[in-house]
Order: sequence, then C-alpha cells, then structure tokens
Amino acid sequence: MALYEATSSAPVNIAVIKYWGKRDTKLILPTNSSLSVTLSQDHLRSTTTSRADPSFERDRLWLNGKEDEIKPGSRLETCIREVKKLRRELIEEKDASQPKISQYYVHIASYNNFPTAAGLASSASGFAALVSSLAHLYNLTPPLVSPSVLSLIARQGSGSACRSLYGGFVAWNKGSSPDGSDSLAVEVAPASHWPNMHALICVVSDDKKGTSSTSGMQRTVETSTLLQHRIKHVVPERMALMEKAIQERDFDTFARVTMADSNSFHAVALDTEPPIFYMNDVSRAIIAVIVELNRISLEQGKGYRAAYTYDAGPNAVIYTLDKDIKDIIQLIVSFFPQKEGEFKDNLGVFGEQLAGNINAQAKVPEGFNRNVALVHEVGAVKGLIHTKVGDGPRKLDSSETLLASTGFPI
Ligand code: DP6
Repeated sequence: MALYEATSSAPVNIAVIKYWGKRDTKLILPTNSSLSVTLSQDHLRSTTTSRADPSFERDRLWLNGKEDEIKPGSRLETCIREVKKLRRELIEEKDASQPKISQYYVHIASYNNFPTAAGLASSASGFAALVSSLAHLYNLTPPLVSPSVLSLIARQGSGSACRSLYGGFVAWNKGSSPDGSDSLAVEVAPASHWPNMHALICVVSDDKKGTSSTSGMQRTVETSTLLQHRIKHVVPERMALMEKAIQERDFDTFARVTMADSNSFHAVALDTEPPIFYMNDVSRAIIAVIVELNRISLEQGKGYRAAYTYDAGPNAVIYTLDKDIKDIIQLIVSFFPQKEGEFKDNLGVFGEQLAGNINAQAKVPEGFNRNVALVHEVGAVKGLIHTKVGDGPRKLDSSETLLASTGFPI
C-alpha cells in the first residue's frame, strides 16, 4: 500500500508595505496591496507533514504536538478543502488512472522552530507550510500549479500567509474580483537578487495580550477615516516606489518607504476607535536609535543605513545591508543589552570576538547623540535574531516527517 505523505517547510515574511484591512472577511480580500520580504528558513520556519490514508476517520491537525480542532467553516477547514478540490479538479477528474486520494481524510502535524512566546507571527509561515505540504502530497506542483495559485488558498488561512509562498521580495496584489481569484501573491524579485540584505529582529518583551490583527484591522476598517486616505492615496504610490526600489537595489528608497509605511500603519491603528497601540516605549526607543543613526549618515551625504518596521506588536524588524549589520548590532546592544549567552551569532558577524558576551561589543558611531534613548535594562529587548532574505517553501525529505507510522505526531 502506497504511503501518501509530504513534508514541507515555509518561511516567515515581514511586510514593508503593510496589509491592514479586509474588504471581504470570509475570503480574506484586502483593502490594499502589500509587499513583504521573506526571511530565511535557516533560522525561522514552520514545518508541516500531511498524510492521506483510507484508514483515517476525519481530518485532524496537531500544532507543536497539541491537537487543534478543525472546525467547520474555519480558516483551517477552508484551506484543506480548497487544496483537496484542486487535486480533484486538476488531476483526478482529468485522469482516471490517478489515485483518488482527495477522498481520504488527512492527518497533519505542524511545528514552528521559534517559540510562540517570542511574539513572532506564526500564522503566515504556518498556513504556507500547510498549503505547501498538501500541495506536494497531491502533486499540485509547477508547472501544473504555480505558487501564486497556492497563494489564493493560503490567503484564506491568513492574509499575510499568501506572501510566504514565494521567497525574496513578494507583492500581494489586492485584486478587484469579488470571488478573490486575482487577490494573489507574485514574486517581485528572488532572494538572490539582493543577497546583501539582512534582517535583525528585536524581540521586545510584551506581557499584556494585545489586539489580534484580525479583530484590530476590522475595527480600523469600521472606524478610521485615515485608513481611507491610506488605501486610496498612500499605498498605491508606495507599492510602485517599493517595487522599483527593489528592482534597482535602491536601499535609500527601500528604507525611507519601509519606515514611512510602518508609521502609517501604526497611525491608522491609533486612528481606530477605541485606539490600538501596538508599539510600546521600547519599540519607540528603537525607532529613535535608528533615526539618529540615519541622521548622521544622511548629514554626511551617505544615505540611509537601516530601516525599522513593526507589525501588530512591539517587536522591531530592522532591515539593513551587509556593510552595516555589525555596526547596527553593536548599536542596538549599546542601548538594549542582552542577557549573557542569549545572542546567537547566526551568520558569524563577530566570529571569535564574541566569546558569548555580545554586550562587550557595544559601540555607537562617531557623532551619535546618546540622549536620543535611555540605556535600557537587560531584557527590555529579550532577544536579537539575525537573519537574511530567504527562499520560498521547501519540500523536505521523508526522513523529516512529523508523523509516526501510526499516523499520529512523533
Ligand atoms: C500587521 O495576516 O495576521 O502583520 O488575514 O486576519 O489572518 P489575517 O491577518 P494577518 O495580518 C497581518 C498584519 C500585519 C501586516 C502584514 O503582514 O502585512
């Protein structure tokens, strides 16, 4: 008896033009287009195994070993149903010799290699890995099915997930069709196009539970007048600018527009009734440090050195280039010292120098006004994750399965 199973991993993406607002909450159709950078799966990823088997009694899913109920009409159920439908329509109904495995129930096990407690969004990589593993299970791969077609399904799991079907730099075109058929992700440029781009994630402590993206953005759609201006006049122009900046590897424009759009998104959150605050004092102190760094450089006619961006939480993601990454880590730890041994020099920036204590590397550039931010206590930024731009979902070897021969998680 054949084993129908596939395992995939998928990346996290961090938007530089933010998605915020839905025009259709069921199909997850956005009020504006967005654009993101896919981060390397070497550091952050979701891995998912899907298996179809005639002995299974219902579709079941385990997330990090714990079963998640697949409720009828839920986002999860929609994604599974839609991939099965694609299998049926594109393969089983076209070629009678193909096994009708879309009729079997599936068992799905998924695992995130980053702690949910880190406050990093896992829904994008999670739904992308789910859709990708089901697509491999059902042989829905190029040239028959493109990542853009799969993005239509991942989008219905979580909007931002559609952008994790590609690596590199990815646009989610909002589309105009009421059925959502043109609201999909497209590749702007692969990761190899701009290989010296780095990302530094500053994990900011956050004890209180914030407003979820899903409910927050709906409140913004219902109450914010500023959102209307953003949708109509701000984002369309920025999408064009950002695509061009990426094509031309123009970091100055990339940085300027990334920061402007993060600010605009947090402004519409504040313009919501009641107002939503995602950034905290530590987030704002990181902004002040990056702004001061750029000020010096701009005054010297050298352009931007870094760009910050914030999603629906207090964590900062800083984009920068090869030439500046070391200085930026040294600058950040000057104001936000790390717990000893906490920093992992993932990409070997410090080499032998590090010897476990990143704080010993603290350094601010010449002319930097230290008064722009307080030196925070250890743990205000509880972790720094250094990564780069990465590729799209990967099909993994069967040795990486998350399901035991019994059909339950390992
Ligand atoms: C601020 O994709 O998590 O990260 O579609 O309701 O699941 P749902 O929302 P989600 O929202 C992400 C919002 C954001 C901006 C972005 O990623 O573009």
